[in-house]
Amino acid sequence: MNRKLIGALISVTLLSGCQSLQNSFTNDEGNSSKEQQTSEKQEEKNGQAADDVLTLPAQYFNQIVETGGKKVIQNSENTLVLVNKTYYLSDSYIPSDLVRANVHYSFGDEQIEKALLRQEAATALEQMFNGAQAEGIELYAVSGYRSYARQKVLFDAEVQQHGLEKAEEAVAIPGQSEHQTGLTMDISSRSVNLLLTQEYENTPEGKWLATNAHKYGFILRYPKGKENITGYKYEPWHFRYVGKEFAKTIYEKGLTLEEYFNVVKEI
Ligand code: DAL
Ligand code: ZN
Repeated sequence: MNRKLIGALISVTLLSGCQSLQNSFTNDEGNSSKEQQTSEKQEEKNGQAADDVLTLPAQYFNQIVETGGKKVIQNSENTLVLVNKTYYLSDSYIPSDLVRANVHYSFGDEQIEKALLRQEAATALEQMFNGAQAEGIELYAVSGYRSYARQKVLFDAEVQQHGLEKAEEAVAIPGQSEHQTGLTMDISSRSVNLLLTQEYENTPEGKWLATNAHKYGFILRYPKGKENITGYKYEPWHFRYVGKEFAKTIYEKGLTLEEYFNVVKEI
């Protein structure tokens, strides 16, 4: 084998593990400019510009009106809606397409509000639970949609029990809960007695969710180590539907939804 060939093989081996380097290698190797443009167009369509700048159409950003000092979201049915300690849902917002998912619930067949999710999220949840089951992982839905009124009951009870400061780290104040979007499900398993506990991260089910949920369009919304960004304690049970494409990007880049919106460029 001559030296040039050995050199070329080493370069290919080194570059093959790194997607962005691999791209530039391929492009340097003489893609026609037409081919290059086509691939850039494709990447932009996928919300990912060729130079690795994340882009997102305007409709996915919160539209806000400030009322009484509160930033209130106007386009609440946006599947990428950012609900957090800054952005509120209106107290009258109820998603229009809530349905019960065909999955196991921790509370059995009871027909209650927290069994509900928006249609798109419910379908994705069913696919995720079926995918888990096929791998021997048993999941239970614990708490999905919560009305503004229900969130108020839960928050007030938490304040009574733990005081305001601790309550705010664990439970959203009414209007600031993702559960009101109908896009979020708290998930548990028998291994932790169907409880919502940080121990879930050490179970096969919690681990499966942490590494697979994005394939079904869900993100782990309050990760460990990002408490100062999300404003909430680590919740290995709380999964938020954003759709497969965005979940993949958010997962692969290791971002919270807050960080994603900080880096993404509106197009
Ligand atoms: N536990 C989450 C933060 C909520 O109450 O929505
Ligand atoms: Zn939750």
